[in-house]
Amino acid sequence: MDIQVKSGDLLAQPSELAVLGVFEDEPLAEPVASLLEVADFRGRAQQTLLLYPRGALAPRRLLLVGLGKRDTAGAEQIRQAAALAVQQARSLQVAAVTLGVATTMSLAPELTGQAFAEGFELGAYRYWIYRTGLSSEQTFAVERATVYTTGERAQLVQAGVAEGQIIARGVKLARDLVNGPGYAVTPAKLGDEAVALGQRLGLRVTVLDQAQLEEQGFGGILAVGKGSANEPRFIVMEHGESAEGKPTVCLVGKGLTFDSGGLSLKPADAMETMKSDMGGAAAVFGAMQAIAELDLPVHVVGLVSSAENMPSSTAYRPGDIVKTLSGKTIEVLNTDAEGRIILSDALFYAQRYQPAAIVELSTLTGAVIIALGSHATGMMATEQALADRIREAGETSGERVWQLPLWDEYREMVKSEIADLKNLAGRPAGSITAGAFLAAFVGDYPFVHLDIAGTAWADKPAKSYHSHGGTGVGVRLLVEYVKGL
Ligand code: BES
Ligand code: ZN
Ligand code: ZN
Repeated sequence: MDIQVKSGDLLAQPSELAVLGVFEDEPLAEPVASLLEVADFRGRAQQTLLLYPRGALAPRRLLLVGLGKRDTAGAEQIRQAAALAVQQARSLQVAAVTLGVATTMSLAPELTGQAFAEGFELGAYRYWIYRTGLSSEQTFAVERATVYTTGERAQLVQAGVAEGQIIARGVKLARDLVNGPGYAVTPAKLGDEAVALGQRLGLRVTVLDQAQLEEQGFGGILAVGKGSANEPRFIVMEHGESAEGKPTVCLVGKGLTFDSGGLSLKPADAMETMKSDMGGAAAVFGAMQAIAELDLPVHVVGLVSSAENMPSSTAYRPGDIVKTLSGKTIEVLNTDAEGRIILSDALFYAQRYQPAAIVELSTLTGAVIIALGSHATGMMATEQALADRIREAGETSGERVWQLPLWDEYREMVKSEIADLKNLAGRPAGSITAGAFLAAFVGDYPFVHLDIAGTAWADKPAKSYHSHGGTGVGVRLLVEYVKGL
């Protein structure tokens, strides 16, 4: 999409559709005020009203979009309003829209532009490549947006727009990967995707196949992948170089391209959406793409463990003992707790970079959905300063995280009698014991675990810039975090 920022008065520009953001309960200036006879529209967040000014203004249509109260209206309100705007433009089949806000915003202009571009691009996203017979309204593409602002802000808003568009492309990449069916998005396919990203963006990429995993002792990934005809992969994507005063950050993703549960088979309804069990990997892909395109001055290493968890005569079993890359052994009690097993190898591998931080994302536990629903990602951390930075990045990016404790008592709960660890610690504190398990593989490096099981997939999206399916959660958060380093 082409998004231009200009200085000028939105209502004086001819347009098929002008979109005006309005703060709640703030009087509208003329001539808009006299278009509203009664106070039906108050500017509540996400309230919309379509008007036909019939010559009273230069635009043919005027869409009012509520931004909520001025003191609570931040980037997230802009993002959501922008998504509503592009959706309205699509259904009216208007290819070029103009936009502006009724009064000046206090939000920093770069952030305003970034949030606008994210909302506008993501609001237009639909995963409809497998649908036939779409109507012209459904296939209509909005091509151009022109944002009107005051003179001195325009350049900064435009810079933010450019960043927001790059970030949105990363989010869309993550959504496409999550939405792709399990037969199409296999571990090998993720490996190919990484190689393609590398060639396009200059990332250094290594993909380890089954034979190489065997040679090098990636026992966790191999155990989980054993039951599937689709062989596992371990993927490394590197942006920038390590240097004095330039921190190295490892981003680690769970890439279960399908999680049937294995021999500890999931019930049918719990399996329905398990093609999305590579949402953590998808976030790492999307973030690596955006970080490379923004050319952020940080050494970032993306690590993805990818396998398919299937039941078969070659599958790993409850009762098996797995020797991981670290040398530590895991007693398998439930083959459906496979994420922590494949991640153990990736987290141990991350230590070779002596990273300033390891940030790992995984659709790890159903328990986090019980705890937080779909409105926050669960966070556990071994270093509070890192957790605080991630929480900040979550607030700024609109991808909120909520911290759970990682006390020693929880680490005790994942110890096994006959191996070093067991992959199941019962139902109490299910998300935390999973995090405690992961923390056993990162040594002393600062580590944050983000459980995105509740946020990576939306059946009925609660946000206007989401649509049914993958949300691409994590991309905006990771980019915001890396930008702040
Ligand atoms: N991939 C699932 C977790 C999940 C559940 C993600 C729902 C998204 C939505 C994970 O591999 C899993 O099955 N976890 C088990 C762990 C249990 C056996 C300890 C769970 O949460 O039930
Ligand atoms: Zn599972
Ligand atoms: Zn899983």
